[in-house]
Amino acid sequence: MIRPPTSRDEAVLLDQSDPLADRRELFDLPEGVTYLVGHSLGPPPKSARERLTAAQQDWAADLVRSWNSAGWIDLAERTGDRIAALIGAQPGEVIVADSVSVNLFKLAAAALPQARTYALFVEEDEFPTDQYIAAGLGDLSGAEVRQLAPGGSFKALKAGGVVIKSAVNYRSSEVADIAAHEREAKQHGALIVWDLSHATGVLDLKLSVDGAALAAGCTYKYLNGGPGAPAFAYVSHSLAPKLSNPLPGWMGHAAPFAFDTNYAPRDGVARFASGTPPILSLAALGGALAAMEGVDLGQLEAKAKGLGALAIARAQAMGLEVLSPVEDARRGGHVSIRIAEGYPVVQALAARGVMADFRAPDTVRFGFSPLFLSYQAVWDAMATLSGILESGSWDQPQFHARAKVT
Ligand SMILES: Cc1ncc(COP(=O)(O)O)c(C=O)c1O
Repeated sequence: MIRPPTSRDEAVLLDQSDPLADRRELFDLPEGVTYLVGHSLGPPPKSARERLTAAQQDWAADLVRSWNSAGWIDLAERTGDRIAALIGAQPGEVIVADSVSVNLFKLAAAALPQARTYALFVEEDEFPTDQYIAAGLGDLSGAEVRQLAPGGSFKALKAGGVVIKSAVNYRSSEVADIAAHEREAKQHGALIVWDLSHATGVLDLKLSVDGAALAAGCTYKYLNGGPGAPAFAYVSHSLAPKLSNPLPGWMGHAAPFAFDTNYAPRDGVARFASGTPPILSLAALGGALAAMEGVDLGQLEAKAKGLGALAIARAQAMGLEVLSPVEDARRGGHVSIRIAEGYPVVQALAARGVMADFRAPDTVRFGFSPLFLSYQAVWDAMATLSGILESGSWDQPQFHARAKVT
């Protein structure tokens, strides 16, 4: 792991030997902004705009024929294959479709009849959508839903149900040991639906090696696919033939243009497609993925952890409470810090060009996207935070006015 710099000069030196430093120019980022919110919405890669423009031109030029001529009909699968390479999965195990919420529902519903026990488990500190989906699916299916204490999933696997679990917790950034959970699940007839939203594009995930069977994740965070970019679903080759999509739409049918009145699923994960894929969003995502091409995922993860470790060291020097694991191996790409007046502090930071986000009631999150951030920028951002806290300049009326999105 990279030892965090202890001075600004050391930060500058680290940047000089950063193998990912030249990736920054692939992004459209406003001058003077240090963007520490890539864990929420990644900034636009220039290649996303180019692909989006090209797709718009295909649409105008070839109209409906573009489904064939521009290959739109297979775009969700082709994009899925590119994401598979980023999460350690095989070609044909990932499809891009819908949102994370919808994919969690589909995968958990499909998994229920395959698990030893007809029950759903979710930890109470999981992202709320994961909990709502479990509760809604429980109501619909009659499966028992058990809410677990934080960290309770591993033990719950013994009961043999379906567990919905984040690989990186959205608030704490705690990383789950996927391989250990999967070994335990297999022993007890349980199935895990991994939520990879905060892990994809920042950790060196190895789903096949770790024995993961099911996962969903988003593409608008570290994959920079754009606001509302479609999510992905992963199903291992060995499990896919046993599963039924609970929302069996025509796009998951083996022959959608046969207009058969009887449903016959496509092979593999493609059966989890339901409706028409969002081509313009897929085009932007496909363009964005170019910014990840050729990146060594080990280097990507190491840099995210190095930047996070720097932020943690500076926060501790300020006497702040760090809510994320200090140990690099246990932490994802973001760092959460408890600041009682977090909301106005985040607004005051933004006014000084440092963007972070706030999660009620008192958590400020700093995301460390390794493709466009530098050690120097993180050093300076933490100095800005220190200045704002010391001077009390955050305590101004305009910083307290709450927006809908925090
Ligand atoms: C861990 C996690 N899961 C799920 C979601 C929601 O995903 P979607 O809006 O695509 O349903 C988010 C959104 O930030 C998230 O952080």
